[in-house]
Amino acid sequence: AKSEPLRIMISGAPASGKGTQCELITQKYGLVHIAAGDLLRAEVAAGTENGRRAKEFMEKGKLVPDEIVVMMVKERLSQPDSLENGWLLDGYPRSSSQAVALKEYGFLPDLFILLEVSEEILVERVVGRRLDPVTGKIYHLKYSPPESEEIAARLTQRFDDTEEKVKLRLRTHHQNVEAVLSMYEDITVKVNGNASMQEVFEQIDNALTEFIEHREAIPGSV
Ligand code: AP5
Repeated sequence: AKSEPLRIMISGAPASGKGTQCELITQKYGLVHIAAGDLLRAEVAAGTENGRRAKEFMEKGKLVPDEIVVMMVKERLSQPDSLENGWLLDGYPRSSSQAVALKEYGFLPDLFILLEVSEEILVERVVGRRLDPVTGKIYHLKYSPPESEEIAARLTQRFDDTEEKVKLRLRTHHQNVEAVLSMYEDITVKVNGNASMQEVFEQIDNALTEFIEHREAIPGSV
């Protein structure tokens, strides 16, 4: 029989490597990656009313109001693929009210992964980050350069990826992170995110493997 789907939250400061690790986790575990920031950027790109409002907050590095974010994430989590294959929620919740709202809708994580990265490294990662609009892949000019000239020529940069804006995003992160962490203390896995992409993934992979083995060892739990 198919085992119970995994439900994972991944959190960390701006550019701590959440998106990068989510790519590696979904490749191995087949979870549905749901990134609050990506859902918001899709609304901005589509030019919807919510997108227009969201962009005002994103440009200031502030949290987009709950009335936009909560329903958007809840609806994505409720899709059949997430319910069936399990989910990997990236960049949500970012406040205790977002965590409470999700709990009220019955979405509870099995594990809460926290990527811990020092501040100088975060700034370097932000300014070097580039995105491939064709494949959606995340690159870094120094740490994960594009594979060909063709890809290099089409890379884009996010509108909030400047040194000035990342400082504002970091401030918002520091203001909110403790309140969120306190709600998931008993299921939190802290990961040293300063290491290489592969080393960070090994720490996460070990934690997920351990969780699955432990769950399967308890009779009647699967
Ligand atoms: P969001 O898109 O979630 O941005 P963020 O939290 O600032 O995180 P990032 O996407 O910048 O970074 P990441 O951790 O995914 O890092 P990545 O893997 O790309 O949110 C944007 C905005 O939307 C917010 O400011 C807010 O306004 C709004 N928003 C989002 N969620 C919200 C919510 N729940 N409520 C309200 N508002 C919300 O890596 C970064 C770079 O480093 C890449 O170039 C990568 O190649 C490189 N890299 C990654 N890992 C390593 C490594 N180990 N070694 C070397 N380089 C690495």
